[in-house]
Amino acid sequence: MSNLIRETVTSVHHWNDTLFSFTTTRNQGLRFKNGHFTMIGLEIEDKPLLRAYSIASANYEEEMEFFSIKVPDGPLTSHLQKLAVGDEILVGTKPVGTLVADNLLPGKNLYLLSTGTGLAPFLSIIKDFEIYEQFEKVVLTHGVRYVSELAYQDRIQSELPNNEYFGDMVSQQLIYYPTVTREPFRNQGRLTDLITSGKLTQDIGLSDLDPENDRFMLCGSPAMLADLTSILDDMGFKEARGGQAGHYVIERAFVEK
Ligand code: A2P
Repeated sequence: MSNLIRETVTSVHHWNDTLFSFTTTRNQGLRFKNGHFTMIGLEIEDKPLLRAYSIASANYEEEMEFFSIKVPDGPLTSHLQKLAVGDEILVGTKPVGTLVADNLLPGKNLYLLSTGTGLAPFLSIIKDFEIYEQFEKVVLTHGVRYVSELAYQDRIQSELPNNEYFGDMVSQQLIYYPTVTREPFRNQGRLTDLITSGKLTQDIGLSDLDPENDRFMLCGSPAMLADLTSILDDMGFKEARGGQAGHYVIERAFVEK
């Protein structure tokens, strides 16, 4: 347990029957980059049960935040979803991950492509001042099945643009594009189809995707990642690998919980 510390839950928010978020205290010594994930979990029958979770809070914030699915018989989430304020949770002391801007070549637009809880690391990244200095536009997409799964809409659309420190940058540079696949909504369809048809760039008023200008971070299910990376590869984009910067980086949304 030497790589784990105990933190205390400070708030819990249930978005719907399948999704919830919670915040915890943060050890002063815990350092991470925006976009990183860490192991978190609970002690169950005296043994730590841990899973990888992206950190949804920014690295300069006082508390840690996590966004999770609730799986009724999930080994961890069946317990985790019952968390209450004051409960203890185990947090790994060594956050890591590939969704960091250092892995990307310089570019004009940064696309953050997420489905489901794959949104989590991007919640941290859209609060990173440096991202707005590195890119002219930051496009946050969130693909979900149902409207009720569009967690954090209000925070992204109303709170962030009014943030006293970086609200102006958010207002001018962040484009939020939620899309729903299984019921009516203003944007509909899978991100894969929205990209291949050109509808995504058309809707947000940006030029066609092009390796010269566009960079991507992807976080979602294995199927979403496989399909999107093959589309990007076909368009001439290269994944960052082995310390070599590229046009895109990927991380799994760690769905098996
Ligand atoms: P769909 O409703 O058409 O399956 P999930 O909860 O299964 O991870 O799905 C979250 C969102 O991601 C849903 O809108 C789903 O669309 C979409 N999705 C699922 N698989 C893919 C894929 N291979 N490529 C792009 N989007 C996907």
